[in-house]
Amino acid sequence: MNKVGRRTRGYGEPMESDLITMADLTNEEILSLLDDAEELLPVAHGERYLPLLQGKLLANMFFEPSTRTRMSFETAMKRLGGDVVNLGDVKSSSAVKGETLYDTMRMVDGYCDIAALRHPRQGAAQYAADACEIPIMNGGDGAGQHPTQTLLDLFTIRQAHGRLDGLNVALVGDLRYGRTVHSLSHALARFNSSLVFISPEQLRMPSEIVSDLTAMGAKIEETSDLYGSITDVDVIYMTRIQKERFPDEDEYSKVAGIYKLTAPDLSGAKSEMIVMHPLPRVSEISPDVDSTRHARYFEQAFNGVVARMALMCRLLGVDVPRGDA
Ligand code: NCD
Repeated sequence: MNKVGRRTRGYGEPMESDLITMADLTNEEILSLLDDAEELLPVAHGERYLPLLQGKLLANMFFEPSTRTRMSFETAMKRLGGDVVNLGDVKSSSAVKGETLYDTMRMVDGYCDIAALRHPRQGAAQYAADACEIPIMNGGDGAGQHPTQTLLDLFTIRQAHGRLDGLNVALVGDLRYGRTVHSLSHALARFNSSLVFISPEQLRMPSEIVSDLTAMGAKIEETSDLYGSITDVDVIYMTRIQKERFPDEDEYSKVAGIYKLTAPDLSGAKSEMIVMHPLPRVSEISPDVDSTRHARYFEQAFNGVVARMALMCRLLGVDVPRGDA
């Protein structure tokens, strides 16, 4: 599509130019992104300067609160020598004047080379991608998907267990509205890991997602009992109950604080079992878990930098040098 006033992308254009759901990536592409992310660890730690994205500009378009996702995108771009413009506070943007997402994104398409979008509406990232020529990365669309989180989650799991296949992974908490677990369950099923969905009845994984996963041949168990599953799993992925997505406060109060993982709960866990959380946590993981060998959530948050570095390089057609090259 070459409309008046719009740029066309040139040489080296990657085949899939957006990341909206994990279905946009093949298993091989996922593994190769994780390999790139691994190479970029010294750059993320500030031990090596590698300006692979010098001259590139990222638009951080966050229409919903974010700490880690927005900051790690920004850190990733700056550590690779590029720069970032932020939408800033939504209340100070033209969204309050009634500007449509389409118009805002068409403008960003001209300003920047790549954009990360977070929006309260499910489907917003695909909508933005259709409006833009530049690559769009879905940083969370309502209760939909969160594929860049999945990349860093997979990186963290592979770092701990050396593989993504054949693991037993418990996803716990708000499986209904939690977008992180929607994207992660899809990816893990593709790598043949077994999934244990642990939630209260009201917050079960949406049936359409369960049917899709089952059709892919996924091994799934559903239960509301967290404590009975701890000894069998390799990963416990805790999630926050997504208060902001509940239609009313009463419904939220029925399930608020339903799971609270404490250090003594982990006494029977496998020694290499890891506890993950996309953060922010509210009360799902007690601070006494932080000092156990199982806690991995702060490393996981750090891994957001390398995962997003690797992704932006890929979408902008820049190769990450392997080894000492
Ligand atoms: C998650 C999100 O925004 O979906 N946070 C994140 O990106 N690390 C999880 C949450 O908000 O509970």
